[in-house]
Amino acid sequence: AIERTFSIIKPDAVAKNAIGAIYARFEAANLKIVASKMIHMSKEQAEGFYAEHKERPFFAALVEFMTSGPVTVQVLEGENAIVKNREIMGATNPAEAAAGTLRHDFAESIDANAVHGSDAPASAAREIAYFFEDSEIFSR
Ligand code: CMP
Repeated sequence: AIERTFSIIKPDAVAKNAIGAIYARFEAANLKIVASKMIHMSKEQAEGFYAEHKERPFFAALVEFMTSGPVTVQVLEGENAIVKNREIMGATNPAEAAAGTLRHDFAESIDANAVHGSDAPASAAREIAYFFEDSEIFSR
């Protein structure tokens, strides 16, 4: 089915000048960028976005990193978009990410891991709504 998923290009990949290279990977996989913007998250915004990880030992470092510089947030649309985007991204830990995946090619560490992508339909819906109004999404 045609799905939408939510994606972030994290501060490390933005700093590396890799936005275009990563967008090209999405497009090559037939994922359409139907919403896109650059933002610099506040602490509150990052804490709310990652609320499910609040009790994890890496939470403070995660929020610190995600607020360390600008990111791009985007909505990707396409057949099986949620799973397809996770395949393109590769494993959370770049040391375990398969060759040819975004994290293998662009990420340095489990914290600075280049991209985020929704893991399930419910989180995709929540994450899209967290950063985008309906009027900012251009289905095509
Ligand atoms: P992301 O998909 O953005 O969701 C939560 C983030 O926490 C994850 O990517 C990683 O960058 C970061 N993180 C740091 N340590 C861990 C860990 N041990 N397990 C999972 N995620 C971690």
